[in-house]
Amino acid sequence: MMDVKETIQKRRAFRNIDPSTPTKKEIKQLETAIQLAPSCFNNQPWRYVFVTDENKRKEMQTVLSKGNEWAFHAGMYVAVCARKEEDCVIYDREYYLFDTGLATGFFILQATELGFVAHPIAGYSPKKTRKVLGVPEDMQVIALVIIGKKREELRQELSEKQRKAEKERPKRKSIEDIVYYNQYSER
Ligand SMILES: Cc1cc2nc3c(=O)[nH]c(=O)nc-3n(C[C@H](O)[C@H](O)[C@H](O)COP(=O)(O)O)c2cc1C
Repeated sequence: MMDVKETIQKRRAFRNIDPSTPTKKEIKQLETAIQLAPSCFNNQPWRYVFVTDENKRKEMQTVLSKGNEWAFHAGMYVAVCARKEEDCVIYDREYYLFDTGLATGFFILQATELGFVAHPIAGYSPKKTRKVLGVPEDMQVIALVIIGKKREELRQELSEKQRKAEKERPKRKSIEDIVYYNQYSER
């Protein structure tokens, strides 16, 4: 079993994937990761739709934006949803996105530990997703998470940039640009 440090290192938003669906036991572990995430006032505003059914998965292909065709090969789609009203709103601070992001982070790490690619995307039509999955109008579809297994042979349909990202992790900001000590000090 991987430790947290190793899982964080291993996690990548790979696009070169083959369809693979978690087993019942693995699904349970993914559910628990979501369930145990912290939230403001323990409000747990998140709702997840796991899409495993073959016909539904085909329908989900129609919600993807251009450039996300690689996600056609998902073994499972996960729709991440939440309502603002179900979580803390403290003056101008709305916590539903933060809390649902935390739970999704837990979910992604758990999926990574289980050997899956778990790739969050914002490139989809929330309107179509609502229709396909029956998500209520007042519920925001915040992200989809694409679940599959990393594929060795590179698919030709990936763009040059996407192929490059398979090989090396996209460059990050330096630590000095994102973590400060004792005093906020944006350069
Ligand atoms: C909220 C969110 C939305 C994203 N949307 C897309 C997307 O629509 N299509 C895509 O190919 N990747 C998408 N990504 C993946 C990022 O491009 C990727 O995480 C980033 O380049 C860093 O690479 P790494 O996760 O492999 O370290 C998204 C990631 C996040 C967190």
